[in-house]
Amino acid sequence: MKTNNAAWKFLESQSEKETHLHLKDLFATDPDRFEKFSINIENILFDYSKNLVTDEVMTGLFDLAREVDVESWRARMFSGGRINLTEDRPVLHVALRNIDADPIYVDGSDVMDQISTELDKMKKLTDSIRSGKWRGYSGKRITDVVNIGIGGSNLGPQMVTEALRKYSDNKVSVHYVSNVDSFQIAQVLRPLNPEQVLFIISSKTFTTRETLTNAATARNWLQASSFDETAVERHFIAVTANRANAVKFGIPKNNIHDLWDWVGGRFSLWSAIGLPIALNLGFDNFQKLLAGAFAMDQHFLNAPLESNAPVIQALIGVWNSTFLGMQTQAILPYNQSLHMFSAYMQQADMESNGKSVDWDGIDVPYSTGSIIWGQLGINGQHAFYQYLHQGKNIIPADFISAVESSTTVKGHHEYLMANFIAQTQALMTGINKEQVREELRAKGKSEPYIANLVSHKIHQGNRPTNTIMLERIDPHSLGALIALYEHKIFVQGIIWRVCSFDQWGVELGKELANHILPQLEQDGPIENQDSSTIGLINFYKNTRQ
Ligand code: F6P
Repeated sequence: MKTNNAAWKFLESQSEKETHLHLKDLFATDPDRFEKFSINIENILFDYSKNLVTDEVMTGLFDLAREVDVESWRARMFSGGRINLTEDRPVLHVALRNIDADPIYVDGSDVMDQISTELDKMKKLTDSIRSGKWRGYSGKRITDVVNIGIGGSNLGPQMVTEALRKYSDNKVSVHYVSNVDSFQIAQVLRPLNPEQVLFIISSKTFTTRETLTNAATARNWLQASSFDETAVERHFIAVTANRANAVKFGIPKNNIHDLWDWVGGRFSLWSAIGLPIALNLGFDNFQKLLAGAFAMDQHFLNAPLESNAPVIQALIGVWNSTFLGMQTQAILPYNQSLHMFSAYMQQADMESNGKSVDWDGIDVPYSTGSIIWGQLGINGQHAFYQYLHQGKNIIPADFISAVESSTTVKGHHEYLMANFIAQTQALMTGINKEQVREELRAKGKSEPYIANLVSHKIHQGNRPTNTIMLERIDPHSLGALIALYEHKIFVQGIIWRVCSFDQWGVELGKELANHILPQLEQDGPIENQDSSTIGLINFYKNTRQ
């Protein structure tokens, strides 16, 4: 962001004032605050009223979005502009769920043609596996799908199939292998019958070592159970943008599902990377997921900035991190079904905006992407919420839940929701010295006891939160929720002027691992390394059996 523009300067001056405000007072002086600072879109309530913002701050933030031209960047993304600057590629995960199929051109050809061909192929595979038409090498139907992939080729499908378990008819069970630690694949394969397993090797690049190592182990496992030459053909498919490597691995051409370089790995669950979702839930449910995301895309594309949920969520995040100096962001779902949502969003957000130079390669003088973390909120209440309420650093948090319970079991959901609502209230209001004293006196505690305890029980409050409430967790609303966050990440990248769609920062570690691997394998002394690396390699080699 250009720190010398008017909106930036205005917001900076406002941020100094904010230190004197308390959310409790903002609510007390404005009974319409919730009405003003919440919106309902696609059956999702987004309440941002418990943030340290005023009308003036929100106006300044919208001005900032206009000054950095979010609207024209958004138009460029949706029309296939090459906004992935360092890789010179379009960013078109939105095309994957463009259910209106309006043309989107890349290098003169309409990508919607390729997408619909691939969707047809996915549907055929899904129907064939789920109906039992597709048989394993011994003639038995496929009962289990093992997705082998990591990062964006794992987290999206796994998060979604976990979230939508309720919608699975269990015709096909899905399992996930991402870690190159052999314990995971060994555990996953142990109970499975090779005659009835389909492996999906998911890798955009088809060069990721973790995935290829696991894929080779899976192939050995299958081949150990069969002398049938056609076994791999009946049991392996690939999803990739690198057909040549998939073929080299031994996947038959017809079993390869296409992905394109204009789909970022962390935004790829809408493509054939989503096959485990379709196989587990049926193709109709996969389409509903796409439709939910499409609805959010349309909202993002067409709503004025002032009532645009992803834009507002992005601006609030920028306000908290860049202007108020809060560097982390918790994501706290209360629904069990969303137990992987924070992990998924951690990759989507941190791999996108965890950058320190701007589009011109210049160091940015302000903080950019937040440290995203979190887990199920109700469990967190009994773990790290102590820090949220009384810790030294202020951690803004997104609270996410659904109005409808996923079951009809009585006596749980109201209690869950009471906690969900109470926590953001407590983080907002806090409890001051006088209130603590009164509370303890009412309990009949002595004055010395109270004097000892009072400061430990004070909660400063004034801790910002967003509340996101879905009507229910279903394929449509989940699609919309994921797209909400995707667009939030996009808008923040534009404001911070960082290249949200590359991930150069993951390369160095991979290269060094490739250098260290032969040193672990070879005998003899290690050279050309720092003393810690030599020490670690030697310890490992001397200690292993
Ligand atoms: O190492 C990071 C990363 O490149 C992610 O961006 C990506 O989602 C993941 O690895 C997996 O990559 P691939 O799908 O090419 O195997």
